[in-house]
Amino acid sequence: MSRRKFIKQSVLGVGGIMAIQSTARCEINSEQSDSKIITDTKSMKPIVISTWNHGMDANKAAWEVLKANGTALDAVEKGVMVTESDPNNRSVGLGGLPDRDGIVTLDACVMNHENECGAVACLTDIEHPISVARKVMEDTPHVMLVGKGAYDFALEKGFPHKNLLTAEAKKAWQEWKESEDQKKPEINHENHDTIGMLALDAHGNLSGSCTTSGWAYKLHGRVGDSPIIGAGLFVDNEVGAACATGLGEAVVRIAGSHTIVELMRAGKTPQEACEEAVNRIIRKHKDLTGLQVGFLALGKNGAVGAASVYNGFNYAKTTNENHQLIDAKFNRKW
Ligand code: GLY
Repeated sequence: MSRRKFIKQSVLGVGGIMAIQSTARCEINSEQSDSKIITDTKSMKPIVISTWNHGMDANKAAWEVLKANGTALDAVEKGVMVTESDPNNRSVGLGGLPDRDGIVTLDACVMNHENECGAVACLTDIEHPISVARKVMEDTPHVMLVGKGAYDFALEKGFPHKNLLTAEAKKAWQEWKESEDQKKPEINHENHDTIGMLALDAHGNLSGSCTTSGWAYKLHGRVGDSPIIGAGLFVDNEVGAACATGLGEAVVRIAGSHTIVELMRAGKTPQEACEEAVNRIIRKHKDLTGLQVGFLALGKNGAVGAASVYNGFNYAKTTNENHQLIDAKFNRKW
């Protein structure tokens, strides 16, 4: 038996056992998601997936790149830029809800098939943090720039200053300031949050991006999982890629995206890896009130996984065959 065939059969064997164990523990509702164990070696590429319903429009832009034989890196940048520019989206880029001081602060990161990565955190007044993160990756020896340093770098690279606090977001913040809710998370109440995007291009290379305005009305200076390589996003071109959405503090505590990629390396399918990460979050937190986290994973062969703590998380998936919004598997109902 060839080594490759042996590994394939071993992985499928392990996957089968884990599926039974997982069902026995009743840890994830199995009625949702289109994920299944991929039993053939034919790669499904190109493919792009991204978090939430705002991913549908973002995927369209990414697909324009992928269908023209472009790179996964270009696709995941162009894709999430659509969401960053959408003034009606309250959790990413322009129109994002501000922190408790009324300042919109943005977190983003990008990672390519060569393990190169770049990130910005607590960036203000720049419409496309994802593109600044890419510049950090490509034009500096660093991985992350934050705050004023990131803003000054962006101006130096030619990004224009832009006020990101729209009239609607400002009004919502003013109402919040007068409300009793001042310490509660405001994540996912509009059925969307961070956009994380993973793509596999026609050349067989993976890349990922992640961008957000973060937890609404957070303390000024708070940084979530989205710009943290290994938490909000991780890519290993030998294995697969993963990204996260939801309550960033919980994702950071288990290094969520890196954990998923390592689980895939150890033989789990993307779906099994996402479910294990969700179960780990649940095990590590005593109080799950309001703690929504969702993960997406994309295997090197184009297999997809998606899982969340609570129901309501969905993702956009675009291939040569279709462009769909799919409900992720979840552990529990709100
Ligand atoms: N996942 C977005 C954040 O927590 O900032």
